[in-house]
Amino acid sequence: MRILVVGSGGREHALCWAIAASPLCDALFCAPGNAGIAGVARCVAVDVMDLDGIVALARDERIDLVVVGPEAPLVAGLVDRLEAAGIKAFGPTAAAAALEGSKAFMKDLCARHGIPTASYRRFTDAAAARAWVREKGAPIVVKADGLAAGKGVTVARSVDEALAAVDAAMVDGVFGTAGAELVIEDLLEGEEASFFALVDGRHVLPLAAAQDHKTVGDGDTGPNTGGMGAYSPTPAVDDAMAERVMAEIVRPTVAAMAAEGRPVKGVLFFGLMIGPAGPKLIEINVRFGDPECQVLMARLMSDLLPALVAAADGVLDDFDLRWYPHAALCVVMATRGYPGAYPKATEIRGLERAAAVPDVEVFHAATRREGDRILSNGGRVLAITATGTTVAEAQRKAYAAVDAIDWPEGFCRRDIGWRAVEKR
Ligand code: AMP
Ligand code: GLY
Repeated sequence: MRILVVGSGGREHALCWAIAASPLCDALFCAPGNAGIAGVARCVAVDVMDLDGIVALARDERIDLVVVGPEAPLVAGLVDRLEAAGIKAFGPTAAAAALEGSKAFMKDLCARHGIPTASYRRFTDAAAARAWVREKGAPIVVKADGLAAGKGVTVARSVDEALAAVDAAMVDGVFGTAGAELVIEDLLEGEEASFFALVDGRHVLPLAAAQDHKTVGDGDTGPNTGGMGAYSPTPAVDDAMAERVMAEIVRPTVAAMAAEGRPVKGVLFFGLMIGPAGPKLIEINVRFGDPECQVLMARLMSDLLPALVAAADGVLDDFDLRWYPHAALCVVMATRGYPGAYPKATEIRGLERAAAVPDVEVFHAATRREGDRILSNGGRVLAITATGTTVAEAQRKAYAAVDAIDWPEGFCRRDIGWRAVEKR
């Protein structure tokens, strides 16, 4: 098969790495890819939001399956466009991607179908939103309805903080049209976990659970990021909890979307809060998490590609996936300054030494090659992923590889996986 992966992050490097290892893969392309992905796929400089360009590339290269990594092209309708052109795609249509593209849609779906989530209200008027915040008090959670590159959620510990979040979105317009509507909801207490499942419209194939670290600083402090590290398995989701999550949240969501004429295909990423009353849904993403994808791919024993094809073809019911019993852990290396402003094009050395550490894959998240040099090309730049018999062992190997990297402008958290390591 001829495969095209759309995206340029660590997630897409991990997907390309897994797909390239499939005996079914005859040719692998990535648009636009990065310097690391270029080691396993032919990178073509087409932007992920250039929908015409992606469709043309898939047609020109006689692609059998397009695998879409990031959410923005999914919400913009890339899969609809590919399918209209007769090209098979792994990922949801725009109608199904509304699960991630509109938090208000997702919350209303939960309300219509009794899926457990925080109670909420929707607002399109700033004065009404402010009045609701004052009436409810803090803590309270303020969310921009649309896609905001992971920055649209404020978990407000005070009324003033919540009011500032309302004004930033609705008056200052910091999220553009994505913040024209807000969802304001109750704070959920408990332990967060992420649960992944492949879906083919009707059938669900659960993947392993994973946990990421959202904040930039050690001890889970500082501003939120796209994710500074991840590990799998996670003690927050044992087999019994996984079955509850499937029964109470995952299957009802897939059935609800099918019943409402928006069948979901691709992968669903459920952000959960595991509290005293059981699992509650925080959010749904319609794509793999980054860096969660990296640890899932490191743990997957089965061939990924036939599972992606089965999801696209609607035949996941016949499917089973095997996982290594190992743990996997991913440490993200970012450019100093991230998630604020940071320099670009800083040189990274020592990548071969890091990759030589046993059981380590050095996935690239934002790099480009200039001659013999590898340069940083974004905020989150490397995703160093290791396996081990325990999370603690995977953690040791990942940091051994991190320490082999010579990149003065880079940094990482030193405590990825701490909850799982301490619980052992
Ligand atoms: P994201 O939408 O990925 O930017 O998620 C924002 C983060 O905010 C989540 O991962 C949670 O940590 C937190 N969060 C969102 N909604 C709630 C809620 N209702 N209660 C507690 N934490 C929340
Ligand atoms: N790591 C969180 C995300 O991909 O949204």
